[in-house]
Amino acid sequence: MSTEKNKLTTSWGAPVGDNQNSITAGSRGPTLIQDVHLLEKLAHFNRERVPERVVHAKGAGAHGYLEVTQDLTKYTKASLFSEVGKRTPLFVRFSTVAGENGSSDTVRDPRGFAVKFYTDEGNYDLVGNNTPVFFIRDAIKFPDFIHTQKRHPQTHLKNPNAVWDFWSLSPESLHQVTILMTDRGIPATLRHMHGFGSHTFKWVNAEGEGVWVKYHFKTEQGVQNLAPNVAAQLAADNPDYHTEDLFNAIDKGDFPAWKLCVQIMPLEDANTYRFDPFDVTKVWSQKDYPLIEVGRMVLDRNPENYFAEVEQATFSPGTLVPGIDVSPDKMLQGRLFAYGDAHRYRVGANHQTLPINRPRSEVNNYQRDGQMRADNNGGGSVYYEPNSLGGPTETPVDKPAPYEVSGSADSVAYDHHDHYTQPGDLYRLLSEEERTRLVQTIVGAMKPVESDEIKLRQIGHFYKADPEYGIRVAEGLGLSIPE
Ligand code: HEM
Repeated sequence: MSTEKNKLTTSWGAPVGDNQNSITAGSRGPTLIQDVHLLEKLAHFNRERVPERVVHAKGAGAHGYLEVTQDLTKYTKASLFSEVGKRTPLFVRFSTVAGENGSSDTVRDPRGFAVKFYTDEGNYDLVGNNTPVFFIRDAIKFPDFIHTQKRHPQTHLKNPNAVWDFWSLSPESLHQVTILMTDRGIPATLRHMHGFGSHTFKWVNAEGEGVWVKYHFKTEQGVQNLAPNVAAQLAADNPDYHTEDLFNAIDKGDFPAWKLCVQIMPLEDANTYRFDPFDVTKVWSQKDYPLIEVGRMVLDRNPENYFAEVEQATFSPGTLVPGIDVSPDKMLQGRLFAYGDAHRYRVGANHQTLPINRPRSEVNNYQRDGQMRADNNGGGSVYYEPNSLGGPTETPVDKPAPYEVSGSADSVAYDHHDHYTQPGDLYRLLSEEERTRLVQTIVGAMKPVESDEIKLRQIGHFYKADPEYGIRVAEGLGLSIPE
């Protein structure tokens, strides 16, 4: 017998008389449409899924905080960095990129590293990866690139021909491809990898002075990776291995932590640096712009509910706060549209009112209505501006700092085309064992490609990065490099 306290109710709060037997006309008769509890239960079940993320569909999340360890007020007025010792609550979602919601964790893929800081001046999202660079550097190529990572439209199979065709025709991908094919392509756990904001962002201080900034999260657990055969076995035995590891570590009080570091570049250096510092296929040399440790991120609380928190979390590079602004990086600029648009489609126009996305600071604006408006919708308060009723008004001091632009409106490419120096440097940095494993991984991944033309085109890129790199891949594939 249920007690008053845990009485089963319908979604409209009425007690349920029977939750095991639908209302039928006698024990053998058809089910009656008047069983409204049954109708509601089946209909709600049909609507349990929201569309999965078009990329980064498989993920795991956790709550935590950032503690500031360095005075940053000369660089940024962002309140989350306003004083040493300040703690800002946050939520992190880690993800793979290409696989579907139920796919295996231990595949070779970049990992998403998305952080939502609930600052006292609104939410700030840093939607990065576990790699400092990306495959392409213009948003216009993103849908095509992702098509190659997803399934063939006819066979519904993954398609290495498309993957290597695209990469070999997009040499800017070489740096990220090389990183992906090294040991770091399969992290041991989500705790044993670094995170990066990847793009260049701008910090602005209270005087309106700016600097360019790149973010690095350095894992305190140390970088550890999985050998491909171990990863493959885990993918079969426990496809949720990383998800489980993160949950269990936090559950038993073994809280993962990362040092947050930044590289700071004076604004004027961007005009003279030896490559375009807004190009997301490049890293800034740490000799030129050393890492400055600014904080510590700790994950200390598991979600109470996966769907409410992890699935409904919406991160966007456009979710910015005063003191943090964007750069002219062409990928970042495209992302400023893509994420909000995805959220309105995937979760709904009021996604920012859900508990996981809602700022901890007050939200005070003239937006009203829309599907699933679950708060009080502004009640009877003033709902237009300008008004003479004392409604919320703008604070000009919080306008982003002005930024001078010039040039013709045109489809213009980056004017730096050196796609080879940085991947070559990375190759030369690897030990002999690491190079051997890198080449083995690439050869294994390229073997199924049907066309020698694609293989040779890609080998040409490896060769230009470092002749030994190209020759070893060619040998592994049983091809010779043409004169
Ligand atoms: C997720 C688009 C590049 C990191 C997503 C989503 C879209 C998207 C539509 C799904 C969002 C959702 O449904 O909530 C794009 C476009 C890009 C781009 C158009 C290029 C122009 C990048 C880059 C990074 C990145 C360069 C990392 C540096 C992520 C992460 C997520 C994500 C971490 C998952 C966020 C979460 O956990 O909810 N992207 N993306 N993306 N993207 Fe991108």
